[in-house]
Amino acid sequence: MSTQMKNENLDDIFNILRNDHSEFDGDEAIEIIGDSPFHLFNSWYKEAFETKQSEPNAFSLSTVNAEGSPSSRIVYLKELIDEKFVFYTNYNSQKGKDLKVNTRAAMLFFWPNIERQIRIEGECEKVAQQISDDYFNSRPDSSKLGAWASQQSEMLVDRSELENRLHYYSEQFNSNIPRPPHWGGYQLIPQKIEFWKGRPSRLHDRIVWELKKNEWVVYRKNP
Ligand SMILES: Cc1cc2nc3c(=O)[nH]c(=O)nc-3n(C[C@H](O)[C@H](O)[C@H](O)COP(=O)(O)O)c2cc1C
Repeated sequence: MSTQMKNENLDDIFNILRNDHSEFDGDEAIEIIGDSPFHLFNSWYKEAFETKQSEPNAFSLSTVNAEGSPSSRIVYLKELIDEKFVFYTNYNSQKGKDLKVNTRAAMLFFWPNIERQIRIEGECEKVAQQISDDYFNSRPDSSKLGAWASQQSEMLVDRSELENRLHYYSEQFNSNIPRPPHWGGYQLIPQKIEFWKGRPSRLHDRIVWELKKNEWVVYRKNP
């Protein structure tokens, strides 16, 4: 049996964090409001924004590749359209390739200062081209050119390769920069949304909304 080597460099930090009790007094139970999870999502999202959480619109997106291996990365939530969660990316990226072979994905928001977590699971599909066009057109020119220049997730020999590509595309287009065909939005159609709220004594609150036979049902879960 191989011996396991503990990395002691970080022990001091682990010990401090283990004993660190949050100051946040999340004393109220989650109130179940409305007949779908979107009322609570809207209310928590607004609260995350109003309480100035850092990057409240950033979430972890997990996808699964053709071999069944999961991977996660942070992306921004940009819109909610017909109760679908929209984010924008490069369709040829790692996540784009994953979503082509497996449309199932999971989203995770974490707002530590208000002790909230939201887990969302469902299936992704590309948004209508017009929706991607409208969003792309709302971006500054520098971001538009970046979308052309970056072959997201492909290997890069060095920075200058990317800078050269940016230069090439900035010469190519004048002020009218079209959306690259490999860039656009996905919408995640949720099947399950879980709301987690920190409560005293680790008796945290968990509410799950799940779509069953086209109806949202709600239940509580043990922490
Ligand atoms: C705060 C933050 C926001 C990000 N937002 C996006 C985004 O909206 N779209 C995107 O494609 N990548 C975004 N990224 C970069 C991704 O995390 C990731 O590096 C990139 O999409 C490539 O991922 P992939 O190789 O797994 O496809 C963001 C990263 C951070 C840290």
